[in-house]
Order: sequence, then structure tokens, then C-alpha cells
Amino acid sequence: MTQPAAGFFDETYDAEHLPDPLPSSPFPKFIEWFEEAREAKQVPNPNAMCLSTVSADGQASSRMVLCKEIFADDGVVVFYTNYDSRKANELAGNPRCALLFHWDHPGRQVRIEGRVTKAPSALSDAYFASRRWESRLGAHASEQSKPIGSRAELLEKVMMKAVELDLDLSKVLDGDGRDIEIPRPANWGGYMVHATGVELWCDGVGRVHERARWDRELTETTDGFEGGPWRVSRLQP
Ligand SMILES: Cc1cc2nc3c(=O)[nH]c(=O)nc-3n(C[C@H](O)[C@H](O)[C@H](O)COP(=O)(O)O)c2cc1C
Repeated sequence: MTQPAAGFFDETYDAEHLPDPLPSSPFPKFIEWFEEAREAKQVPNPNAMCLSTVSADGQASSRMVLCKEIFADDGVVVFYTNYDSRKANELAGNPRCALLFHWDHPGRQVRIEGRVTKAPSALSDAYFASRRWESRLGAHASEQSKPIGSRAELLEKVMMKAVELDLDLSKVLDGDGRDIEIPRPANWGGYMVHATGVELWCDGVGRVHERARWDRELTETTDGFEGGPWRVSRLQP
């Protein structure tokens, strides 16, 4: 029996490949994949990512959040949430997290681990101001992760908050309500994930997938972290 050539999989099938040699930073490729997922319009939220945090007693928990910003040069990914939520409490006790993107249609996965800081107020203000008025009102009304008796009670809370904030809801009738003024609540804002590890994965023929992992050290600065050079290695699937 003839032996298959070493390049059998690559030569026979038209699969995606990670660059060879691997680039010095994972971020340009990550952003390329992120933009391609947006442009493909295969899912409503291609920027959705699973965020995992760990409580003080070591219990991991995961939920989806939206990636709203990527700073490639700094290796930082930003999401927004309630600063009194379960995830926020866990991050206060253990300011490290893991993020996971999965784009099924092109067969790609991106894993990120990193250290977390709160985003500067100006960044959170700018993003909050860009949200629809309903989302801005909801951010005021919802004590995220706390129990509530019924859906009716929740809606009542939202309406009461609209009254308390003295919202001019007639503006909704005139447009999309974007110019309704609602200030950012003090307990709502962004988190910046300063990546310490990134893995890019793409689907390979016969499950001979492609994986590469980048790691780097972070040095604490007055306003966050500075990243050192990335070290990269190709991993077996
Ligand atoms: C696709 C998707 C995107 C979401 N995006 C966000 C988000 O950006 N921020 C947020 O606080 N919650 C978001 N949620 C809700 C969270 O998954 C979660 O229910 C909420 O943040 C409370 O989590 P916690 O109790 O663990 O803090 C999203 C849910 C889904 C399914």
C-alpha cells in the first residue's frame, strides 16, 4: 500500500490555514476574523462572546456579552455591563476573565484570557450615549442579577424610572428617541480585558484543526497595564 504524502490533507482539501510563519501579534488576524463575521451577516450578533468569571470560592460562571471595542495595539477587548451584577461582583474579587468567540459558519474560534479593569468614564459615557433610549432606560431600571417577583413588577420599575428621570417620551413619536437625554448610571459601564493569552483556532479537514496560541506578560501602570511582547506557538488540535 502506498503511503499518503505528508501534505495529503493540505493538498487534497481546500481548508483554511493560519499564517506560516505565525504573526508576532494575534490581534490583526483576530480583527480580520471579527470583521469577516460581521460582514457575513450569518448571525444577529457576530460580536457576541462568552465571558467567564470566577467567584472568590473558585466557582466559574459564564454568560454572553457583546464585544463593543477592540484596541489592537493595546491588546484590549471591551464590553459593557452593570457594575453591581454577578459578573461585576466576581470581577471585583478576581479581576481576571476568559472570553470566547465562536463563528460556526467559517469554522473559527478565538479564546482570550486576561486581566480586567473598568473602562475610563469617557469611553463608557460615549458608548452609553450611542445606545437606543430603551436600552439606556433599562440600564437605569434593572438591578441586574437581583431577583424580582414578576415580569409585571419589572415593567412597572421601568415605567417608574422613566417618570423619575422625567423623560420626554414625545420625542419617540418624532424620531427614534436617540435625542432623549438619559445620563449614564454610575453603576453601568465598560470593562477592558487586557489580553494575556489569545488562541486562534480554525476548522481543519478530518479534525486536523489549526491552533496557535500567543502569551505575553502585563506590567501594571497608573491607568491599567502595558503589554510585553507576545510569544507564539502552534498547538496540536
Ligand atoms: C447575545 C447576548 C448578548 C448579551 N450582551 C450583554 C452585554 O453586552 N452586557 C450585559 O450586561 N449583558 C448581556 N447579555 C446578558 C448576559 O448574558 C447576562 O444575562 C447578564 O449580563 C447578567 O449576567 P450576570 O448575572 O452573570 O452578571 C447578553 C446576552 C446574550 C444572549
